[in-house]
Amino acid sequence: MASPPSRRAVLASSLALAACGATARGSAATPAAPLKSAAPFPVGTCVQSAQLDDPAFAALLEMQVSQIVPEWEMKMEYIAQPAGAFRFDAPDRIAAFARDRRLRLFCTALVWYAEKPDAFVHLDESRISFRDAFANYVAAVVGRYRGQAVGWDVVNEPIVDDGSAWRDSLWAQKLGAFEHMRLAFQLARQADPGAVLFLNDYNLERLPKKRATFMRLAEQLLKAGAPLNGLGTQTHVNADLAPGQITAAIKDLASLGLAIRVSEMDVSIVRARGLLTSDDDLIQRQAALYVEAADAFSSLPARQRFDFTFWGLRDPESWLVRENASDTPLPFDAESHPKPLIGAWEAALRR
Ligand code: G3I
Repeated sequence: MASPPSRRAVLASSLALAACGATARGSAATPAAPLKSAAPFPVGTCVQSAQLDDPAFAALLEMQVSQIVPEWEMKMEYIAQPAGAFRFDAPDRIAAFARDRRLRLFCTALVWYAEKPDAFVHLDESRISFRDAFANYVAAVVGRYRGQAVGWDVVNEPIVDDGSAWRDSLWAQKLGAFEHMRLAFQLARQADPGAVLFLNDYNLERLPKKRATFMRLAEQLLKAGAPLNGLGTQTHVNADLAPGQITAAIKDLASLGLAIRVSEMDVSIVRARGLLTSDDDLIQRQAALYVEAADAFSSLPARQRFDFTFWGLRDPESWLVRENASDTPLPFDAESHPKPLIGAWEAALRR
């Protein structure tokens, strides 16, 4: 049962509704400051190297966020090439952009059930063991950004959708259901002693059972001596998510005392469309969810607030919009105009 939203959340959510209402009536909502200047913690977004060619996007990044996360080009699907080769042009470009503009670089993901590149699926194990090929990959990739990447999602989405078990994967089959995860953390730590290492998953708000299984895995990794430093909750939510679920998830995850990331937040309108809710109603509920996340995250002890990352800044760049062009999940519109929800999100940080 989700805990009722805090007084702060209720107050902050009323800000969200007022902000949206003001805009609907045509009056100006509170003008938003740059996201990163409103937050007492790092604010991030995902990026693709090709987006850096757009001067307007590069300027928006530099103005709004203090951290960037390669959306897909730091993953095996981009880097792992045949015969143990690696492709680093795109991740290097993103890393250079971060360095040149003094932005933090956070990397995702080292091990993900969804990534099984041919280089590993068709590995010639007479030439090299699977474990050595895996260790070589982690050492090469994490080692390359040693001293620049502030952290890594070492294991991404380890829990099955209904929360009942750990996911099966090529990595689990080849290296062990638990051992592949423990080993990934150990190898990442060896490759970069300074990186903050995370376990990351989604639907931890909507599915308390999945969150419980995720947290038990975290405890088991810690007990096994894995250098697990933090927990990421992706926070890909739909606008009809019940109030209080985000608050309950962040509080629960933080109870282990580790660093916490809101790692990939967006709020889908399209996925929440139903017979009883208008888009106007969903837009107000979307704002309230962004506000609830700001309220819950800012309520954490400062030492646990690692970063709050949006999975994109402008609607057209969202993976959700690639799925349905009419979705509007992000804080900025196609013309880089801030939405009313930003003013409310920022007000929630000040409460
Ligand atoms: O840009 C290339 C394009 O040049 C090429 O023609 C096309 C077809 O091959 O691929 C394009 O790259 C795609 C890229 O997204 C950019 O659109 C990749 O194939 C595709 O795999 C990649 O998908 C990403 C996905 O993770 C898998 O890495 C999404 O952008 C990204 O938003 C999504 O992010 C995940 C998080 O990592 C984990 N949580 C869920 C989240 C959403 O699925």
